[in-house]
This record gives sequence, C-alpha cells and structure tokens, in this order.
Amino acid sequence: MCGIIGYTGPQAAAPILIDGLRRLEYRGYDSAGITVHSRKKLLSWKAAGKIAVLESQLPETIKSNSGIGHTRWATHGAPTDSNAHPHLNSNQTLSLVHNGIIENADTLKEALLDDGIEFKSETDTEILVHLLSRTVNDNQLSLIDAMRITLSKIVGTYGIAAISNSDPGTLVLARNGSPVIIGIGQGEMLAASDMSALSRYTREVVHLDDGELAVINPNGFEVSTMDAIAKDKASITLSNSTEDYDKGGHKHYLYKEIIDQPETVRRTLSGRLNTRFSTAHLGGLNLDPRELLKITRIKILGCGSALYAGMAGSHMIESLARIPTDAEAAAEFRYRNPVIEADTLYIVVSQSGETFDTLAATREIQRKGGFVLGIVNSVGSTIAREVDGGIYMHAGPEVSVASTKAYTSMLSVFALLAILFGRSRDISPQKGTQLLQELQSIPEKITAVIALEKQIAAIAKKYCKCHSAFFIGRTSAYPVALEGAQKLKEISYIHAEAYPASELKHGPLALVSKDTPCFVILPDTDLLLKSVGTLEEIKARSAPVIAVTDSNNKRIDELADHVIRTPTSDPLVQGIISGIALQLLAYHSAVALKRDVDQPRNLAKSVTVE
Ligand code: G6P
Repeated sequence: MCGIIGYTGPQAAAPILIDGLRRLEYRGYDSAGITVHSRKKLLSWKAAGKIAVLESQLPETIKSNSGIGHTRWATHGAPTDSNAHPHLNSNQTLSLVHNGIIENADTLKEALLDDGIEFKSETDTEILVHLLSRTVNDNQLSLIDAMRITLSKIVGTYGIAAISNSDPGTLVLARNGSPVIIGIGQGEMLAASDMSALSRYTREVVHLDDGELAVINPNGFEVSTMDAIAKDKASITLSNSTEDYDKGGHKHYLYKEIIDQPETVRRTLSGRLNTRFSTAHLGGLNLDPRELLKITRIKILGCGSALYAGMAGSHMIESLARIPTDAEAAAEFRYRNPVIEADTLYIVVSQSGETFDTLAATREIQRKGGFVLGIVNSVGSTIAREVDGGIYMHAGPEVSVASTKAYTSMLSVFALLAILFGRSRDISPQKGTQLLQELQSIPEKITAVIALEKQIAAIAKKYCKCHSAFFIGRTSAYPVALEGAQKLKEISYIHAEAYPASELKHGPLALVSKDTPCFVILPDTDLLLKSVGTLEEIKARSAPVIAVTDSNNKRIDELADHVIRTPTSDPLVQGIISGIALQLLAYHSAVALKRDVDQPRNLAKSVTVE
C-alpha cells in the first residue's frame, strides 16, 4: 500500500526512480511524485493519476544522482497533485515520502498551524516534513538525528525516505509498521517498499525492522535505533529475478500469473512430497512429531483471498486430520480479544507477508504465548521474519493486484499440511500415497483447465453485462465460491455474492432471476446430489446456471446452461482445480468490460495500513 523508492549512486536518478515507481505501482496508483537532489537544490514533480502522467511532465534530462519517489494509495486527502508525495518543507530544503498513517496528525497539525506554517496538502505526511524541518533548524541537527526526534513525537505507522538539500547523495530511512528495504548495489544504494523495485539493480537486501532508521549513500548504509544505537544488520540475497516482474509478453500480469500456475504449484510442492513415508515434508515448520500430535485445534487467519484460502485449508485439514480447524478474518480476530490456547496451532496466511491486520494478529497471538506458523510468499517479509515457524509458497512475485497464483499456492501448502497432519493421526500410508499422487497431478490438471479458456471466455462475454452474479458451493466448495465471487468483483466490478448452497433458500433466492447468472461449483463428492438439488432450485427461478464440476452426472448437463468440466480430482485438490476456471472467468469478464485488470479501482495489493 503506497510505494517508496530511493536511489543514490553514479547513475541518473530520475529514470531509476520512475522505473521503480512503475514496479511498485500495484501498491497504490492514484498519484505519484519524485524529488531529486540537483546540486544544492531539491527539484520535485508530482501528479495525480498513474506514473505515466507524472512521467509525461518530467523534463527529458534531469541532472541528478539521488532522490526519492512515491506512488500513493490515498488515506488522508483525495488523490490530487498537491496531496501526492513527496512533501517538502516551506523553504524547499527537505523532502519526504511516507507510507502509513500518523494517528496524532490532527493535534500536531494544530500546533504547526498556530506557529504560522502553511500547509499545501491535506495529508498527514506533510506534518512530518514540517516537524522535521523545524527540528533540523532549531537544533542544527543532521537529518538522521532530527528524524529521530521527529519520530519520537509521532503516534502511528510509517515507512519513510527523506532527503535534504544540504547533503546530496544521502537518504534517511525509517520504519515502523510499513516495510522499507535497502538494496545494496555496486557503488550505489537503493531503498524501496518491496523487492519488485530493486530486482533490476540488486538482489542483496537488508530489511529494516520496526523502530529502525538508516542512512544510505553510494558507499554503504548505517542502521540505528530510535535511541541512536548502531545496529549490525546482515544482508540477505534473494533469488527472484527481473523476469519474475515482467509480463512475459502478455497483455496483463494477471493473465501471466494465471497461466503460470502449473509451474508455480510445481515449485510450491517441490521437495515437499515424502514418498518414503507417504507424507509431506515441511522443513520450516519448527514442530517435531510429538508437538504435532499435541495440537488439538487449528486457527487460520488472513485477509481477502488469503482468508478464503484459509477457509479452504480448514476443510482440507479437518477432513484429513480430524483436528477442529477454522479460519477467520485476521482483523476481526485480533480486535475481539481472542482466547489463545497453548495446544492450538495458529496459522497466518499472506502473499505479501506485510498485510497490517495479519501482522497485528500474529503479534497479538505471540504476545499471549501462542505459536504462529506463517504461510507466506514474499521471502524476508515482516510476517515471514516474525512467525515461529514458516512455509514459503515459492510462487514467485505476484504483481497483479488480484491474487491468483499465490492463492493457488496457499491451497497447495494447505494440502501438504493436511496430509502431514493426517498422516500423523488418521490416514493410512496407502491413502497418504494416493494423496501425494493427487498433489503431483495438480499441474497437469491446471493445464487442462487452462485449455478450457475459449469456452470460459465465451461464457464471460455472454454474462459480463449482468449487474449481479451468484457463486454457490457446498461445504469445501463454499470457499471456492467465495474466492470466485471475490475475483469477479475485484477486477470486473460486477456485484458478486457467494453463498453456501444450503443458504440460498434462506434469503438470497429472492434475488435470483433470469438476470442473475449463478455459478455453481459441484465437486464429485458424496454431497453431489444435494448440490444438483440446488441447481434445480435455481433453474426453477429461470436464472442462467453455469456449473463447474468434475462429475459426469447427466442431470447437471440437463439443468445447466453451461458446464465447465474440470478434470476428476480428489476432494483435497478439487478446489484448486475449479478455482482456476473461476480466475479465467473473472479475467475474461474484466477484459470484455475493458477494466484495468492489473490495477482495479480503489484497491491496492499490499495493505500495510489498518
Ligand atoms: C489486499 C489485496 C487482496 C489480498 C489481501 C491479502 O486486500 O487486494 O488481493 O488477498 O490484501 O493480502 P496478503 O498479501 O496478506 O495475502
């Protein structure tokens, strides 16, 4: 949520800042800006709209070797030129970009207004730069020392990069709740909110932790605490390559991320299928077999698609391991003062590893003594670093705002966990072997669903003008329906609701008509005939029915207007397979409606504020 970039080194700074912003654009895209050092001056450009608007306003050459940039997802103040970051102090000697929220902004602003400071924006960030300016001037302090004093007056969250005209080539960074990563190059240094903006220049990075500040210049970096104590931080080398952040010749990242899924699932499963003992091998779990056996309950937490993946995961684990398991929205959980139990395993799920609500839930559980296992995609992210045990998804960077490949990899990790827990309790080696074979077949089954793209695109085109759509699924198919509806609303803006099949008749049926296409997910389980009954109910109200099923039941073909037939699969993986069809449906609906597929309105990929 909002993206920060900073550069200092021998190269021209502005093109690097713009390139970084473009790669961070998925974090927020309502306005953008840069400030660069130009001799002893700061030069700034800001514009509402996407990075391309900002870029069109820049002079062809800007002589500068260092600067900062920002792409915004509005919290305080509308997306206008003046609210765009960077924000500068009154005499234009300091410039600052900020992610996060200053909670005591109103009180601080009042005091500054009383002192005659004129504000140019409605943002909370501008308060920071005026406070910083005053601290520098009143005490003749260096930027880093003044930053410490300024931040000690702040209540809230921040990721910050700041520069001063008096020290060209030096950037000051700070973090509390919003990620800041330092990128170590050859004779150059970068800073960014996430790896996507750095991968072109370096893979060697240092993650700042909450409460840390840093000074970077072309020769290196120094990290210190709020009490000015120097910290020795080791760098890590990440394996993501630049291509991971490219569209691979496709029009949209989302499409690339959908069709990459056979490969990304393969990566998630790689090295984790223990065929000798017919179980899963998950190295980062940090739980030995005895501890595994002691778990009496599992609680899964996440937001958005990660929550729906958690709901699907709870069905997998409960049915195979017979451990009571449920999933809950991370923020709801942490705000209801949850009871933390010693024998409960808490699992947090997050693609970015930075979602504020999920991170806050993690900390709340740990504070009360609970053990937290993380299922995370982004290597080295805050959640990945803070959890007690972890499983990386290895899906590679996901750029499009709507989650697809990360969601599928989350489900794949849950399938692995379900087998692992199941094998430590209820299920036989024979069943374990059969399930491992099922997992191995996921990539080819995903390929088979992708081969149905033409049929799915035609269905999307036919129904994309509808005002409302329903997604229906029973038990384990309900989370699939939730995620299907989520994908459709996120990127096509069609109102879509998901219901458990049994709930349809308790209200929603009043809205079902010939104008509301109903997407019904019918896995071939022992509940199939009950779900066929749901088709009858819907058809009796003349609604178009699109069945997504791996069953050959004839009645489905008679009742449904369209049948998307997915490969036969064990219930453990059926959600993964049918989910791909719903991703393609959402994608083609959005394309048919000419939506901004990768950057849907009002959304951001990584929500690092409350
Ligand atoms: C945002 C995104 C969703 C995502 C959710 C959780 O709301 O728009 O697509 O599912 O955050 O993100 P996470 O990185 O924690 O999986």
